Amino acid sequence: MLHQLPYTNGDLELRSVAFGGGWVSLEELRRCDDMKVFILGLVLGLLVIPVFVFFYLTVGNPPVATADPPFPFERQIVHVPLHARIRRDAPKSVPIEATADNLIAGAHIYRRQCATCHGLQGIPSEFAKGMYPPPPPLWETNHHGVIGVSNDPPGVTYWKVANGIRLTGMPAYQHVLNPTQMWQVSLLLANADKPLPPEALTTVKTPLELDLPGQQ
Ligand code: HEC
Repeated sequence: MLHQLPYTNGDLELRSVAFGGGWVSLEELRRCDDMKVFILGLVLGLLVIPVFVFFYLTVGNPPVATADPPFPFERQIVHVPLHARIRRDAPKSVPIEATADNLIAGAHIYRRQCATCHGLQGIPSEFAKGMYPPPPPLWETNHHGVIGVSNDPPGVTYWKVANGIRLTGMPAYQHVLNPTQMWQVSLLLANADKPLPPEALTTVKTPLELDLPGQQ
């Protein structure tokens, strides 16, 4: 009997039942209705989602200015893949030692390349206030009680310095500094919570002389 045919070829069999003037079991009718509702939902979903996204982007005021509040879960969404990538790719061993010479060289590099955004010891950055996400002060104690990134392995900082952090103001330095220089500044930051050679300390404490308008 028709209603006993296997359901696996459902469409074909139901149509042959309708045309043949035979009878269809309630179960088969319900399955047919379920399928129609499912397809209708699918089509509406495919149309409604792009329209909704378009309206959100044009009239929903999504954050585009640095001063705007972040998207819901923006930090989490951006940081999860970043941390996964760094965990995978950051070098695990450090090719140079944290000697006084390397730390002093690191301090000069920091002062020239990084201090405008990340500040100096006791001197916060002017730019940081106007950036989103803000560059963290690397010589201050953060809310975890850690000075800058001194608890990060130097390889993690090296990865960030070499590659930069996308969708933030953190530049990639691999075309600006050579690997030794990038290690020197990474080692300096890993030692930010330890006593530094006097020259390195003076270098990260002396205010920058920025050529501000009206000061020539
Ligand atoms: C133009 C501004 C700018 C400059 C210059 C800059 N940074 Fe950054 N940096 C940022 C921003 C913005 C972030 C925050 C990125 C984020 O929130 O993911 C950042 C993040 C970092 C972090 C990660 C901090 C953390 O808490 O995980 C490190 C380490 C870092 N920078 C080191 C450096 C070093 C070293 C230099 C110089 C060689 C440098 N940065 C130069 C803007 C800058």
